[in-house]
Amino acid sequence: MLRPARGIPRHFMEVITRMDVIESHGARIPILGFGTMTLKEDVCVRLVEASLKLGYRHLDTAQMYGNEREVGSGMRGSGLKREDIFLTTKVWFTRLASGDFERSVDESLERLALPWVDLLMIHWPNTQVPLSESIASLCKMKKAGLTRHIGVANFNIALLKTVVEEIKAPIACNQVEYHVMLDQTPLRKYLASKAIPLVAYCPLAQGRAAGDPTLAAIGRKHGASAAQVALKWLLDQDGVAAIPKASRSESQRANLDAQHIGLDDEDRQAIAALPKDRRCVNPGFAPVWD
Ligand SMILES: NC(=O)c1ccc[n+]([C@@H]2O[C@H](COP(=O)([O-])OP(=O)(O)OC[C@H]3O[C@@H](n4cnc5c(N)ncnc54)[C@H](OP(=O)(O)O)[C@@H]3O)[C@@H](O)[C@H]2O)c1
Repeated sequence: MLRPARGIPRHFMEVITRMDVIESHGARIPILGFGTMTLKEDVCVRLVEASLKLGYRHLDTAQMYGNEREVGSGMRGSGLKREDIFLTTKVWFTRLASGDFERSVDESLERLALPWVDLLMIHWPNTQVPLSESIASLCKMKKAGLTRHIGVANFNIALLKTVVEEIKAPIACNQVEYHVMLDQTPLRKYLASKAIPLVAYCPLAQGRAAGDPTLAAIGRKHGASAAQVALKWLLDQDGVAAIPKASRSESQRANLDAQHIGLDDEDRQAIAALPKDRRCVNPGFAPVWD
C-alpha cells in the first residue's frame, strides 16, 4: 500500500491507501496511473495537480508529449512530497544513440525541474541503434541516479528476449497498448514468465470502450460506466497496470473509482467475446507485433 501524504483530506486518503502497487525489481508501480499524452500548457498543469489531489500517485509523461514542464509544475502544485509520486518519462526513439540519449534525459529532467524520475523508458525500439547500446545508456542513467528504475515501451517478445535474457537488464515493465479490444495473450504470457509487469496504455481504446454497448450493459449491472468496466477488467489481471488519460474531472474520478467494481465470470466471458483486433497506435516505425 502507498503511504498517504500529509494534508490530504480523509476521503482521499482512503482512495490512496486502497491503491494497489505492483512490485518489480524494487519498483512499486501504482496499478492505476494518469496518462498525460495530448495534455498541454495550463490545462495539463491543472489536470496533473487535480489528479494527484484526487488520489492518483502515478503519472505518465514522455519527452515526445511536449508537456514535461507542465507535468513537473502540476506535481509541485499538488503539495505532495516528491517520494509519494511515481513519475515515468520516456526517451523518444530518434534519441537512443549513445550521447544523444544522455542529453535527452538531461533535457527531460531540466523541463520537469526534477533531479530524477521513478521510471525511465525507451519509448519505442529503433532498429538503427543496437539494443546493447540503448539499454546500456538506460542502465547508465539508473546508475547515475537520474532514474530509480528502467523500463521499455512497445517492445515485442523477440526484443524483450534480447533485453531480459541476453543483456539481462533489470526491466521494471513493458508499456504497451492493451485494452478490452486488443488481445495481448502471447506478450502477457512472456512477461508473466519473467515476472515483468505490463503497463497498459490506451486502456480505454482511446475512448472507444466508453461507447461499447456490451461494456455498458455490464456496467448497468454494477452501477458503473462502460469505461469503468474496461478499466477494471485490466486492473483485475495480475501484473497489469493501466494509465488512462482523462480531461474531465468526472472521468478522472470515475477511473479512480473503477478499482472498486467487482466483475464476475459472466462479465469476463462477455468481454472475452469482444473483437480483439482494434489496435489504436501503430506507427510506421512500430516493431512486428506479437
Ligand atoms: N508508450 C506509448 O507509446 C504510448 C502510446 C499511447 C499512449 N500512451 C500513454 O497512455 C495514456 C492513455 O492513452 P490514451 O490517452 O491514448 O487513451 P485512453 O486513456 O485509452 O483514452 C483516453 C480517452 O478516453 C476518454 N475517457 C477517459 N476516461 C473516461 C471515462 N471515465 N468515461 C468516458 N471517457 C473517458 C478521454 O476523454 P477526455 O480526455 O475527454 O476526458 C479520452 O478521449 C496516454 O495519455 C499516454 O500517457 C503511451
